[in-house]
Amino acid sequence: MKKLHVLYHDRISTIAPEIYGHFSEHIGGVIYDGIWVGKDSPIPNVRGFRKDLVKKFKRIKPAVLRWPGGCFAETYNWRDGIGKDRPTRLNWWTPYDHRYESNEVGTHEFMDFCEMVGTKAYFAMNITSITPMQAREWMEYCLAPKGSTTLALERERNGRAEPFDIPYWGVGNENWGGGGNMTPEFYALEYRRFSTLMRNITRDLGGTLIAGGADGKDYNWTHGLAKVLSTSEKHVGGMSFHYYTGVKDPLTKKKYEALDCSESAWYATMEKAEGIEDAIKRHYSIAQAYGMEDKLKLVIDEWGCWHPDGSGPTKGYNLFEQQSSMKDAVVTALHLNIFNNHSDKIMMANVAQLCNNIHCLFLANKENCITTPTYHVFDMFKEHQGALALKTVAEENDDITEKISSSASLKDGKFLITLANLSLEKDVELSVDVPGISVDEEAEASVLSTEKADAHNTFAEPEAVTPQVVFVDLSKPLTLKKHSVTAITVKIK
Ligand code: AHR
Repeated sequence: MKKLHVLYHDRISTIAPEIYGHFSEHIGGVIYDGIWVGKDSPIPNVRGFRKDLVKKFKRIKPAVLRWPGGCFAETYNWRDGIGKDRPTRLNWWTPYDHRYESNEVGTHEFMDFCEMVGTKAYFAMNITSITPMQAREWMEYCLAPKGSTTLALERERNGRAEPFDIPYWGVGNENWGGGGNMTPEFYALEYRRFSTLMRNITRDLGGTLIAGGADGKDYNWTHGLAKVLSTSEKHVGGMSFHYYTGVKDPLTKKKYEALDCSESAWYATMEKAEGIEDAIKRHYSIAQAYGMEDKLKLVIDEWGCWHPDGSGPTKGYNLFEQQSSMKDAVVTALHLNIFNNHSDKIMMANVAQLCNNIHCLFLANKENCITTPTYHVFDMFKEHQGALALKTVAEENDDITEKISSSASLKDGKFLITLANLSLEKDVELSVDVPGISVDEEAEASVLSTEKADAHNTFAEPEAVTPQVVFVDLSKPLTLKKHSVTAITVKIK
C-alpha cells in the first residue's frame, strides 16, 4: 500500500486559472466544422458557434483561449477577418490541409465566442510577415476606447463600439521553426523591435506581452532569449514553450497510434509526458539565472499527446484529428497535476487543441459533437483554478508501472486532491492523509475509470468514458483502479 500526504502547511502558490487554458487555431477542423458551423447552419448554433459545444465548454470554466494559431498566426492578416467582404486565402496549413481560409471567423466572431463561454482571450501576433506598425494597428483596433480613433470607429462600424478585453498577446509563434526559422538571439532582437510598439499600446490600454519560447527541451533557446532580454528588454510578461508527447516505437520507428495501449506504447507515453516536469524546472531556472524569473514566467501554450493522423471520426479528412482514450485522460491528469505542483513558475498553459485536433476536448462533425476523456479530466480538475496549491508527497512512488501522480489545492475550506494511476495493469491501494488539520473522512470523489485502457467516446457511443461520482471513506485505503483518474473533494471540519 502507498501513502499520500497532503501537506497543509507546505504551500506552493495560488494556481493561476490560466493554467487551465485552451488553444484554437485555424487548422484542420478546429474552427470550421468544429466550433463554428455558421449562422445559417441547420445545426443549432449561437451566432454561428455550435450550441452544444458552447454549453459544454462553458461548464468547465475555461480560463483563457489562444487564437488564431499556432503556425497559422504567422501568415495571418487581421484585416482579412473584419468587415463584410472577407477574402479567401491560402492557409498556412493548405499544403497539408485541403481547406482554404474563408476568414468567416475573425476578431469579432472569435471575441464573441470568448464572451459567450466566459473565457479570457490570448492573441498570437504575427511577427514574421507583417510590420510592427501593422501589429500595433491590430491592437489599436481591438483596444482603443470607444470613439477615440479612426480604428476604434472602424471597429464600431463593424459592430463593436466598446473595446475588446484581450489581456494576453503572444509575440510570434514557434519562431525557431514555422515562425521565421530564427536563432534565439535574432528572435530576441525581433522581440525588442515588435514589443517596443506593442508595449506602447499595452502601457496605456493594458495587456501582457509573452515572448516566444523553446521547442520542448531546447534550453539553448531559453539561454539566448533570456540573455538578450535581460540586458535591455523589460517589456515582457511571460515566456512560452511548447511540449508535445508523441513517441516513436523503437522497432518500427513510427509513432505509436492513438489507441495503441500496449505496454511499450503506454509507458513510453507516460515517461515522455512526465518529462514536461523537467522542462518546466530547467526553463524556469535559466530565467532565474538571468534574474528574469518575474518577467519570464512560463506559458506552456501548446501541450498534449500528438498521435498519428487518421484515428478521429473523419478518418484523416481533418488535419491532425485523432481519437482520445484513457491514455490521453491519464496524460491530461499527469500534466495538470505537474502544472499545479509548479504553479509558482507557470502563469498559463494551453492544451492543443480545443476541437478535432491533437489532444482535443471535443470531436465534432456535422450534427455530431461529443466530449473526449480529456474534457472530463478538465471538468474534474476545474476547482483547482485560483486555489492554493499544496505540496503532496507519495511514499514509494518511483516505479512507473505503479506510479501515482498527485496534486492538491485548498479553496473555500475544501481540499481538491487529484490523482492519476499511471499503471496500465495494476490497481493501487492508497491511504490519503492530511496531517495538521482535521478533515471530514467522508468525501465525494469523481472517478474516470474503464476496464480497457483504449476506451474512448465515439459519435455512436458518446458516453463510453464518463466520470462516476462515489463517496469514499478516507479512514480506509482507497483503491485507485489501473489507468484511472480520481478527484476527491475533502472538507475541513
Ligand atoms: O498545434 C499544431 C501546430 O503545432 C501549431 O500550429 C504549431 O505551433 C505547432 O507546431
